[in-house]
Amino acid sequence: MPYAAKNNIGLIARVPLDEGGLTGKFTTSTQFSDGDFRRQYFNPDHLAQLVSRTNALKKLLGNEAQDLVELSLRYLLSWDAVSTVIPGMRKVSYVKSNTSVSDGRKLSAKLLAELKNHAWERNFYSGLDPALKDYNFVEL
Ligand SMILES: NC(=O)c1ccc[n+]([C@@H]2O[C@H](COP(=O)([O-])OP(=O)(O)OC[C@H]3O[C@@H](n4cnc5c(N)ncnc54)[C@H](OP(=O)(O)O)[C@@H]3O)[C@@H](O)[C@H]2O)c1
Repeated sequence: MPYAAKNNIGLIARVPLDEGGLTGKFTTSTQFSDGDFRRQYFNPDHLAQLVSRTNALKKLLGNEAQDLVELSLRYLLSWDAVSTVIPGMRKVSYVKSNTSVSDGRKLSAKLLAELKNHAWERNFYSGLDPALKDYNFVEL
């Protein structure tokens, strides 16, 4: 990020909702259809880990974000070096709610500090079908 800012390079945050994982709408009972790679990516063990994390994040919302979608997008846009985020938006309602966070309001320093405690380095790609892995590691 410092390199990008110094050299006038724009950064695009891709998959900002973690394939839906950061929307907060998944539960340990969520199931994905045949052919949806998330069936493996969010297998029961991964889902249990994820839901535990997102439930903890929901407690931080306060009056800064109405849900985890808004929290996630505002979190990314709170970094000066991040130019834009590109969430997948298959519904008009998603376009409306996701673009509404482009109002320039960043998360407070207090909330950003709290979010640091929730940093989670994890790799759900390990063990995926190689064909799916190739698809998901396509670099721009
Ligand atoms: N996934 C990849 O490996 C990949 C690779 C290269 C580039 N990209 C690019 O990255 C962008 C986003 O990728 P993505 O769609 O896979 O991941 P994403 O943006 O991280 O997540 C999309 C998920 O978030 C949900 N969602 C989006 N807005 C929502 C809202 N307002 N309320 C509730 N749920 C919401 C969608 O729900 P629904 O399930 O209901 O639609 C979907 O499950 C796309 O432009 C894509 O071309 C993705």
